[in-house]
Amino acid sequence: MKTITLINGDGIGPEISDAVVKIIDAAGLKIDWDVQTAGADVIDREGTPLPARVLESVRKNKVALKAPVTTPIGKGFRSVNVQLRKELDLYANLRPCKNLPNVKTVFSDVDLVVVRENTEDLYAGIERQVDENTAESIKIITKKASERICKFAFDYAVKNNRNEVCVVTKANIMKLSDGLFLNTFREVSQAYSQISAREILVDNLCMQLVQKPSQFDVLVLPNLYGDIVSDLCAGLIGGLGVAQGANIGTDCAVFEPVHGSAPDIKGQNKANPTALLLSAIEMLRYINEFDYAKKIEAALFKTLKQNICTPDLGGSADTLTFTDAVIANL
Ligand code: NAI
Repeated sequence: MKTITLINGDGIGPEISDAVVKIIDAAGLKIDWDVQTAGADVIDREGTPLPARVLESVRKNKVALKAPVTTPIGKGFRSVNVQLRKELDLYANLRPCKNLPNVKTVFSDVDLVVVRENTEDLYAGIERQVDENTAESIKIITKKASERICKFAFDYAVKNNRNEVCVVTKANIMKLSDGLFLNTFREVSQAYSQISAREILVDNLCMQLVQKPSQFDVLVLPNLYGDIVSDLCAGLIGGLGVAQGANIGTDCAVFEPVHGSAPDIKGQNKANPTALLLSAIEMLRYINEFDYAKKIEAALFKTLKQNICTPDLGGSADTLTFTDAVIANL
């Protein structure tokens, strides 16, 4: 039996994790879940939101499924999510965005993949209070990190029969930092003659995405633009409730939805488990459980086609009803 770390998160995290574990179990796949709590709830007991045991578990098991964890805004501890990605060197954040059956959206032809650099940029966490009225954040872009994320994007394109990789920057303004990312992309692209290399500025990209998203295939972006653009893309396919993601490094991978802990609907049995379920399906493919991935995906799509969905998608099913419907469709 495969052992996988399960970080069940907080807010809606435990509700959607329970749903996904139940669905995978009902599909017949036995997984030994190594459940690890993290976040605000463990600070009092363990003095940190990300105890060493969580990192050790992921390092040992190599694969984790993670529900969202709340990050208090302003002060306090560093984001568990950012820290986890940094500590485990999960340098690539992969967010495929494709229309789902029966989920009504403005466009019906979205099929793109956001590849976001995950370890540096303004998320390096280098900030200081210069004086009482001024704060400073430092944007770090290195050649090494830019090179490996651009290679990851091109390799992903080759492996998944994609045609184009488009680099997204604001290199006209941040000539040194975004300029380095762009120039590195240009160098890396030379080794992939079968894939088109395209360049776009992030502001223009946002406008184009809400007008004609079908023109994009694989996007590769530094951390901050990647974070914002992937939420925009989530909106193109039906919102955060259906947007999946993965953080991939050389040794480990953590699969998690794009959305946060949704404190506004916590404990109300309203959360949509689809984004975590799609992330888990991707995780099953990652561990070569292709048949189970296919079976669960088919049950999910059938449920959506039956018009059974949670309120964020305009439906009236609660989390438990939706989960039971997916199980019935397995
Ligand atoms: P959020 O993604 O939690 O919520 C934004 C809106 O989308 C809310 O109205 C929420 O109800 C809705 N929503 C999100 N997921 C949903 C789902 N599965 N089903 C139905 N509706 C859903 O973003 P917000 O409010 O900005 O962040 C809340 C907390 O989550 C913050 O502490 C933030 O730092 C943290 N966060 C954690 C992430 C992670 O663990 N990877 C990622 C993003 C945010």
